[in-house]
This record gives sequence, structure tokens and C-alpha cells, in this order.
Amino acid sequence: MEIRRVGVVGLGTMGAGIAQVAVQAGAEVVGREVSEELGEQARSKIDHFLTRAVEKGRMEAEDKDAAMERLTTTATLDAFADCDLVIEAIVEELEPKRELFSELSKICRADAILATNTSALSVGSIAEAADRPERVISMHFFNPAPLLPLVEIVQAPASSQEAVDAAYEWAEGAGKQPVRCNDTPGFIVNRILIPLLNDCVRVLDEAGVTPDDLDKAMTNGAGWPMGPCALVDLVGIDIHTHASEALHEALGEERMAPPERLLRMQGEGKLGRKSGEGFFTY
Ligand SMILES: NC(=O)c1ccc[n+]([C@@H]2O[C@H](COP(=O)([O-])OP(=O)(O)OC[C@H]3O[C@@H](n4cnc5c(N)ncnc54)[C@H](O)[C@@H]3O)[C@@H](O)[C@H]2O)c1
Repeated sequence: MEIRRVGVVGLGTMGAGIAQVAVQAGAEVVGREVSEELGEQARSKIDHFLTRAVEKGRMEAEDKDAAMERLTTTATLDAFADCDLVIEAIVEELEPKRELFSELSKICRADAILATNTSALSVGSIAEAADRPERVISMHFFNPAPLLPLVEIVQAPASSQEAVDAAYEWAEGAGKQPVRCNDTPGFIVNRILIPLLNDCVRVLDEAGVTPDDLDKAMTNGAGWPMGPCALVDLVGIDIHTHASEALHEALGEERMAPPERLLRMQGEGKLGRKSGEGFFTY
């Protein structure tokens, strides 16, 4: 199946990045936000990133102009009727996602692939709300989507092999490094990384280490490209806490529960980079 037209629902942190990846890969892209203004804002953000790529010599100016011409935004779902692939990146809550997939499965073509970018929800329980659950999979991008190559292609119990293969091939063609996995809590990376980062945060208090020294320890002693405190700040304390809670609820392992220290920081509004303060000040 050839994927030429891609829809992205939700143009926040992830959706705007995914739309950028798709448009740079040559697809016609339509992005949906809750209002025209938010759609326009996301479009400007993508324009800004592509302009920077031109300034740095990583992209030709005419390719950037052509890419921006392929990108439209809307506040409705009508324009999704002729999409080959739709990627959802709205709020991380089950009910709004289920409602959206039910709606999309009525609007989109029968052979369109519907993908969720959920971090921690069950793909199967989102797919059940769609008229054709066999067309529903997950394409789990990592933040920032234009920079991080990994995409986890998740096969839910009802997902067809054909839908999974087509999404895998498209991601590869878009310059990503896709991997396949089953619909299990946290998929691959988050299943491993979330409890590990929670251990790191607990070590701060247990071993009396400063965030600076902990990051120094893990980058210099374990070869991590980035320290755990800097990474949690980048992801966002609220996002990490939410994903920890979901994983803890699904698998029940104590290490998966968010550490007290992170819950305290979240309560104080210290959410990491996005709030200007987390383990470090930005
Ligand atoms: N932030 C991350 O690091 C990250 C990484 C991987 C996956 N995810 C997942 O991606 C999804 C989006 O996360 P995010 O960080 O981009 O969130 P975000 O809050 O930055 O963006 C969500 C966007 O969706 C819009 N929206 C909400 N309901 C909508 C609807 N019905 N139609 C259209 N737009 C709608 C909101 O206006 C908002 O702009 C979540 O499921 C999250 O778990 C996030």
C-alpha cells in the first residue's frame, strides 16, 4: 500500500513533530487541531524549524517551500476522508482517543491505517472503539520526533499484518528506524526506561547525590549520552509521572510508581524544561 496522504490529529509537541517528519518525507499532510488558531501556531512552529534547517544548510530553500505547501491545517476531520495513514497525537486519555478512533473509522477510507502515538495506553482498547480494529496500530514516535529516529510499530491483537507492514515501510522511507512489538504496557523503551529513571531519582535521596553528580555519574560511568535528571527534565516531570503511574497500574511493580520526589516537584510546578525549572534551571 502506498502512503501519500497523511493526517495528524493533535499538533502539540508530538503531533507537530510528526507532521514535520511526514511533510519532509514528501507526503501531503493535513493536521487537525481543536481550533484554527492552534493549527496555525503549529504550522508556524514547523515553518520555523524548517527555516532553521535551511539556514544551517541542511535543507534547500525550495524544498522547504514545497514542504510547507504540502502542509495544511484544519479544525475538522472532513479532510481526513482521503488519507492513507492517520496518526493521532492528542491528550493521553483513553476516552477522547476512543471517541476519535470511532469517528475516524467512519470518516476515513476502509483501507486507511489509523495509528495512535499513545505512550502508555493499550492500543487494543483504543482499537476496539473503531469500526475496523484491524486497521488500528500504534506508531510510537519519540520526542523530539524530527530528531529521534526510533518509531515503535505496535501490533494490537486485532491489527492486520498488512497495516503493520505498511506503517513500518512508510516509517523507514521517512528516514526513521522502526521496530516491531506487541501491545504490552510501555511497549519497549518506556517499559525499560521508566523504572530505570525512577531508580535514578530514588538514588538521589538514598545516596545523597546532587542531580549534577548523578548525571555526571551516569554519563561518565555508564556511557549514557545524557544524564537521567536532564532526561526527565526534557521529557517533562508531569509526562514522566503520568507514564509511571500507568505502568505501575498495569504491571504492579513498585519501581514503576513515581518517586515521592517527582510528585513533590510536580505539585510545585517544577515540570522540567517546559516550566523553566526541574532538576535544573533553564
Ligand atoms: N511528549 C512526549 O514526550 C511524548 C512522547 C511520545 C508519545 N507521546 C504521546 O503523544 C500524545 C500527545 O502528546 P504531546 O506531548 O504532544 O501532548 P500536547 O499536549 O503537547 O499536544 C496535544 C495536542 O492535541 C490537541 N488536541 C486535543 N484533543 C484534540 C482533538 N480531539 N483533535 C485535535 N487536536 C486535539 C491539543 O490542543 C494539543 O495541542 C500523547 O498520547 C502522549 O502520551 C508523548
